[in-house]
Amino acid sequence: MPTPIIIANWKMSLGVSASVKLALSVSHKVIGVKNKEVVLCPSFTSLGRVGEAIAKTSIKLGAQNVFWQEIGAYTGEEAPGTLRELGCQYVIVGHSERRQNIYETDEMVHNKIRVCLQNKLVPIVCVGETYVERQGGYSNDAVFYQLIKALSGLTLSGSRQLIIAYEPVWAIGSGHAEDPIEVGKAFRLIHRTLHDLWPERIIKKHIRIIYGGSVDARNTRRFTQLEFFSGFLVGTSSLKAEEFAGIIKAI
Ligand code: 13P
Repeated sequence: MPTPIIIANWKMSLGVSASVKLALSVSHKVIGVKNKEVVLCPSFTSLGRVGEAIAKTSIKLGAQNVFWQEIGAYTGEEAPGTLRELGCQYVIVGHSERRQNIYETDEMVHNKIRVCLQNKLVPIVCVGETYVERQGGYSNDAVFYQLIKALSGLTLSGSRQLIIAYEPVWAIGSGHAEDPIEVGKAFRLIHRTLHDLWPERIIKKHIRIIYGGSVDARNTRRFTQLEFFSGFLVGTSSLKAEEFAGIIKAI
């Protein structure tokens, strides 16, 4: 397994002080943890303070979104360079909550991934089927097309890294994680699809595949033995330091 990565997506759940408090608490609990990457993704307004709180630890900082242009008249958006300035190394792109609530399209997702790679930010690209797609038997098609539209035409070279987060939409925040056997199938589909875009040596060197959707400290171990597994994207369970640390230590 490549170095596993455990990413906390705090969504819009915490204010600035609560974010700093949680960041400090997580950093105390993961002291001594080795060979694992831990990333905290607070909301934009908390990035600076959380970045300061974890500056002297091995924990890394990520953003939950980015704009696809580098500078200009784009009211309300955030530039990749500004995120870098705040210490971000990762950016969540194409989360299903943005696809649903903000109507973020595959084209926007593609452009955001491109700008991340050009600015030394690692995009965490979220893909996954909705409940309706799953019921209709279209899960594979949904994931396949999201990947192709997001990733076609991108160059992976040098130190560029990419993370694909498989997050079945219906599993998010439901308390019911997807069956690991099904996650294994989705990972294989993702790997096969990546093969349509890059040779194995590029995939191995530059891409990790992770799972997200109702991950908690108890179900973690069911996923860690899966082929292609490299970590988790965690929502609800990342909001409690003890629970999140439990996930990190279980890998
Ligand atoms: P939950 O862990 O709450 O299901 O959220 C997953 C998620 O959306 C992470 O991006």
